[in-house]
Order: sequence, then C-alpha cells, then structure tokens
Amino acid sequence: MAAATANAQDVYADLAPVLAQRCVMCHAGDAAPLGLRLDNFESLMKGSQKGPVVRPGDAAGSELIRRLKGQSQPRMPMTGPPFLSDAEIARFERWIAAGAPRGEAPAAAASSPPAAVRPAPGQPVTWAHVAPIFATRCAKCHAAEGLMGAPPEGYRLTSLAAALDASDRARVVPGRPDASELVRRVRGQARPRMPFDGPPWLADAQIRLIEDWVAQGARDAEGHASAVPAGAAVRLHGSLDARRWLDGLELVIGPDTRIDKSPAPGSYVEVRGRLDAVGNVRVERLRSR
Ligand code: HEC
Ligand code: HEC
Repeated sequence: MAAATANAQDVYADLAPVLAQRCVMCHAGDAAPLGLRLDNFESLMKGSQKGPVVRPGDAAGSELIRRLKGQSQPRMPMTGPPFLSDAEIARFERWIAAGAPRGEAPAAAASSPPAAVRPAPGQPVTWAHVAPIFATRCAKCHAAEGLMGAPPEGYRLTSLAAALDASDRARVVPGRPDASELVRRVRGQARPRMPFDGPPWLADAQIRLIEDWVAQGARDAEGHASAVPAGAAVRLHGSLDARRWLDGLELVIGPDTRIDKSPAPGSYVEVRGRLDAVGNVRVERLRSR
C-alpha cells in the first residue's frame, strides 16, 4: 500500500497541502514575495514578477525546484531548516516532469495566510498563535539564509527553540515582556524598530498578542510554559526614567554596575546584564547610546 502511494502520480491537489503548510504563510495576498502566490493553481502556474517558476516537463529548469533544493538562494521554505524532505521534493519534481497536471480542483481550504488569531477567552496564548507573525514578518531576515545573508545578530525566528535560544543572550525572557528585547523592538522602545523593513510595523493587536505570549511564559504550541534562562546575558535598549528604570522595567543596579557617561533621565541607553532566577535584570553596564 505504501509503495503504491509512493509510485502514484501526484496532481496539484495532492501537493497543495504541502504548499499550504510550508509556503502560503508568506506566499499569499498582496505582499507575497516577488508577487509569487502559492495558494492556488493559477497563481502557482503564473509565477512571480520574474516569470514562471514551474516549467511543465522541465523540473530541473523550474525555479520552484531550484529553490526547494537550494540551487537558487535563498533556499525555500525561508523558515528552514527544516526544508522539505527529499521525498517531498521528488514528488514536486515528478509532478513537473509529468507536465504539472492540475487534477481535480482541490478544496479552497487553508489557502489564506493565517491571521493573528487570539485564543478563546480564558485560554493561554501559545507559540501556535505567534508563530505565523514571526514567519510572515520576521523570518525572511531572521533565518539561516535570510534576505540579509546570515541572521541579523545571529538571531533566528524560525522555531520556538531558536526564538528562546539564550546561549549568547536572551531576547525573550518568559514572564517578563519588558525585559525581552524582542518585545522592545516590536514596540519601538528599542531601535531600530522591528520589522527592520517597516513601516508597516506590526498591528497593535499583533504586538499585544506577542506581549501576552511572553507574559504568560512564552508557552510552546502545547501550552507548556518555558523556563527563565537564569544567568543568561541580556542586552536591552530603551529610555531611562527618573527612577533609573528602563521604560517601566526595574533595573537592579549594584555597586559593581558600570555606569558610563552618567545618563540623564530621558536618555536612550543600552543595558547589559544578566538574568536572575525570576528574570530580574542585574545590570553590569549602563551607557548612553
Ligand atoms: C518566511 C517566508 C517564506 C516562506 C515560508 C517561503 N518563502 Fe519562498 N520566498 C520568500 C521570499 C522573501 C522570497 C524572495 C527571495 C528573493 O529575493 O529571492 C521568496 C522567493 C521564492 C521563490 C523565487 C521566485 C522567483 O521567481 O525567483 C520561489 C520559487 C519560492 N519562494 C518558493 C517557495 C516555496 C515552494 C515555499 C514552501 C516550500 C516557500 N517559498 C516558502 C519567502 C518565503
Ligand atoms: C529586513 C530584515 C529584518 C526583518 C524583516 C526583521 N528584522 Fe529583526 N533585525 C534585523 C537587523 C538588521 C537587526 C540588527 C539591527 C541593529 O540592532 O542594529 C535586527 C535585530 C533584531 C533584534 C535584536 C537582536 C539582538 O540580539 O539584540 C530582535 C529581537 C529582532 N530583530 C526581532 C525581529 C522581529 C520580532 C521581527 C519581526 C516582527 C524582525 N526582527 C524582522 C533585520 C530584520
């Protein structure tokens, strides 16, 4: 049975679910990259502003295959790795080699980009709610092979593990939105504001969703809260207020804190420090920028 399935000739309707799951989050609507929409057969066959990406009968000459294999860069999907499996790529190759048959029109289901949906009242915000925002607005740069080459600041937003990775420094501090440089960047408290190619910035509702996700413990898609990376370094940007707080975030300043150029209230500053076990920021260095 498995062998029969593998040998069966795919038609567009069989491949559409792969596109819907891995590509449509970016390749849909008016803002589709290079005008390439992958949410219906006609758009796929029409191609991008540069021309067709599927050349029926010529898999090797089709930009779609070249991007899936990484022969053209950046490799697709831009959120990879993981990229498509060899078996999945082979299905697209066989489909194009056979003339890219449409087959039965697939149901129009799952063909629009996922909107920023709030969980039902009383339900926590999880990675499943915020991941579409990062995929569509951030991952084109914050990926292994993004639009700017290497990920800016080495920071990838292509998976929960990457977003939370604190091995060089934490950009997301579970439970502490104000201590999270990611939240500061999308609010515009830290500059340059993200997304770097904005405006448009994120919608207020999207920013609130990300704030709530962090405040509720940066939960994974199953709803499990993430731990504070105690001891991890942080680097935050923002404006100092009269209490020497950073836009509402209390800074723990001790006798060992280095304070350069004695920043005045209202100054825009960079704070370097470490997290304690509950996510307070113990400041090592504070300086005007
Ligand atoms: C995170 C967003 C994102 C995802 C997900 C994504 N893409 Fe792309 N894609 C882009 C961007 C941005 C570009 C433009 C890159 C460039 O300048 O070459 C692009 C370009 C392409 C191109 C080149 C078009 C041309 O004419 O040169 C193809 C083909 C393509 N994508 C196919 C796919 C496929 C197939 C998938 C899913 C397996 C996918 N993409 C997933 C963002 C994405
Ligand atoms: C067009 C490319 C691009 C896009 C899109 C983009 N970024 Fe960035 N990002 C950058 C660059 C470049 C920097 C480094 C800027 C600097 O600090 O000088 C950066 C820095 C950051 C930082 C700071 C990392 C650190 O180590 O301090 C965070 C956090 C961040 N981006 C989050 C996001 C988020 C969230 C989004 C989507 C809402 C996003 N970015 C979209 C290019 C991009």
